[in-house]
Amino acid sequence: MSAKIITLTRHIIEEQRRFPEATGKFTDLMNDIAFAAKLISYHTNKAGLMGILGETEAINVQGEIVKKLDIFANETMVKALDHGGHTCVMVSEESDGIIPIPEEYPLGKYVVLFDPLDGSSNIDANVSVGTIFSIYNRISPEGRPGTVEDCLQPGHKQVCAGYVIYGSSTMLVYTTGNGVHGFTLDPSYGEFILSHPNIRIPKKGKIYSVNESNYDYWDDSIKKYIHYVKQIDEATDRPLNSRYIGSMVADIHRNLLYGGIFLYPASKKAPHGKLRLGYEANPMAFIVEQAGGRAIDGKQRILNIKGNKLHQRVPLFIGSEQDVRMVQEYISGKRA
Ligand code: AHG
Ligand code: MN
Ligand code: MN
Repeated sequence: MSAKIITLTRHIIEEQRRFPEATGKFTDLMNDIAFAAKLISYHTNKAGLMGILGETEAINVQGEIVKKLDIFANETMVKALDHGGHTCVMVSEESDGIIPIPEEYPLGKYVVLFDPLDGSSNIDANVSVGTIFSIYNRISPEGRPGTVEDCLQPGHKQVCAGYVIYGSSTMLVYTTGNGVHGFTLDPSYGEFILSHPNIRIPKKGKIYSVNESNYDYWDDSIKKYIHYVKQIDEATDRPLNSRYIGSMVADIHRNLLYGGIFLYPASKKAPHGKLRLGYEANPMAFIVEQAGGRAIDGKQRILNIKGNKLHQRVPLFIGSEQDVRMVQEYISGKRA
């Protein structure tokens, strides 16, 4: 085998050697996530053929219409992670409360939060969607089920965060606090192969990603910032390009590679923003910071926020360092 082929499993094993006390449980957990990702990837690709597309009657806990593939992705993640003895509790966008580990299975030390399918309103149009995950060590005593408090830890306590993007190829991108690494699924081997080692986001980007139809609902500071990015100014390389897919995973993945800012501000329509702290903002913030970028809620670092609700929403400004600093200057009133 070529020495250049590094599978996800090998990469995780080598990363874990940094921790002499590692038991292999984290590697097991990541392998289970990767397996779930392969199943979701397969079904996402086959969705049109298998009659799995279309809206179900169900409305999820956020009051949004759930697509069938959301349910499949959610069940796949839960079933992949509930029996391995590495996890003590889970949180999913698709479940109101915490998801306990069934009594017949052993409890582990990890806490996993996930958005099983991000961007699901795009599925019917064959647009990229993703799975996002966030992993913590439990803070409750071992040997008992995990608790809500285990799931409400601030993002800087994450031991791992990652996403899988189901796009023109399927990629898994993750960090354990030692840089950001991307793996592309080789469909013939069924293996994630290291394709993007040590991803670094450019310090300044050429892209802004926002749902501009919310313009009239925004504060003046956001309106002014968006006006700023569209002005012509050669010296500062403006205007920026507008790119908005409506799948956060895909929008941030592109900006991570090309440089840029993604924003979902609070507004009159969504006073706390739209995106969820635990399984959307925190994992993406950990990844983007590890790649050299920034993620804030307008004032403070996303990773410093201590949530108090499982499905808490948060305004999000994330991406290239200089671009995030610029919007922060508008929000703080330093620029107007
Ligand atoms: P989800 O599909 O998990 O509910 O998330 C959708 C999110 C996110 O992916 C995306 O960036 C955002 O909603 C789009 O919101 P708008 O349609 O309001 O722009
Ligand atoms: Mn989502
Ligand atoms: Mn979702």
